[in-house]
Amino acid sequence: MPVITEIEDLKRIYRRRVPKMFYDYAETGSWTEQTFQENTSDFKKLRLRQRIAVDMDNRSTATQMIGEDVAMPVALAPVGLTGMQSADGEIKAARAAEKFGVPFTLSTMSICSIEDVAAATTKPFWFQVYTLKDDDFMRRLFDRARDAGCSALVITVDLQVLGQRHKDLKNGLSAPPKLTVASIANMMTKIPWGLEMLRTKRRFFGNIVGHAKGVSDPSSLASWTAEAFDPSLDWARIAKLMEMWGGKVILKGILDVEDAKKAAELGADAIVVSNHGGRQLDGALSSIRMLGPIVDAVGDKVEVHFDSGIRSGQDVLKAVALGAKGTMIGRAYTYGLGAMGERGVTKTLEVIHKELDMSMALCGRRNITDVDRDILLVPDDFEGRWA
Ligand code: GLV
Repeated sequence: MPVITEIEDLKRIYRRRVPKMFYDYAETGSWTEQTFQENTSDFKKLRLRQRIAVDMDNRSTATQMIGEDVAMPVALAPVGLTGMQSADGEIKAARAAEKFGVPFTLSTMSICSIEDVAAATTKPFWFQVYTLKDDDFMRRLFDRARDAGCSALVITVDLQVLGQRHKDLKNGLSAPPKLTVASIANMMTKIPWGLEMLRTKRRFFGNIVGHAKGVSDPSSLASWTAEAFDPSLDWARIAKLMEMWGGKVILKGILDVEDAKKAAELGADAIVVSNHGGRQLDGALSSIRMLGPIVDAVGDKVEVHFDSGIRSGQDVLKAVALGAKGTMIGRAYTYGLGAMGERGVTKTLEVIHKELDMSMALCGRRNITDVDRDILLVPDDFEGRWA
């Protein structure tokens, strides 16, 4: 067992174990990847304020996200194709999250279905949907999520059309992978991954194949999004979907103060400040730069969560200090999953928790609920003056 001390360690192992097509799917941004890269580099511009001689005994990172108790303010984000990073990956990730005491969000574009994950877990998980044209399919998805006991619906509001990711097109991304000379040659070097994959029957988009009608190639994310996603999505449609669901709703993918105000007016239980991990609008500001202004505008009206760019507990701490009540990690847990399956997701959570807990202490705070902007040093121009 290698010594894992940071998320980067898991990423290195992940890269060795998993076919290039799926590593590239996770480790990409859209177009030039400027926003993808700035999501992480902008975190480094924020500094933490070291304090001393403060009692650091009996610390706690426990808090609540949308009224649910969490061991730390970190949920597993919806990530497509997770069951291609490791066989039955969604089940493994959901189990690790449940044991750790943080929410797991199942993506519509998962390999394991809603029912598979429900059967393998005991606590409610969150379910993510895109805004699709087909109301019947949406209704059936909502019924299935309700039957599975999902406690919140995460509506992705920043993906009516798919930002272009060059690597996915070049690799011919699909689930299961199409057999080409290049993909076979690459998979031959990933034997443990392949053997596990052969042992599971879950190799297709489990929420879609057999449930959605008229999709010409259900193995391709690109063709499914082009055919099924609703490019005419507007606030009225979001309101309708919220009503159709009737339970707790988290709107994910908000990067603008005006949009945040609108989401708060609509009565969302939470919003997620996110640019989809830099996978959608390339050239948009990093998520962390937009967190402060959005919290200032709507933080007293709606719970604000944060996503895009978190690779450490220090990053979680910075987001919480800027006012996020919770955060989401996507790539960080995907690295763990691809590297070591369920154990790797647990490792991701342990690494982030330890970093969060110790850094909070070194900032002189014992409870995550007491963390505020005072522990942060923010450069004058961080939010920028963009005309
Ligand atoms: C899907 O949401 C993706 O970003 O690939």
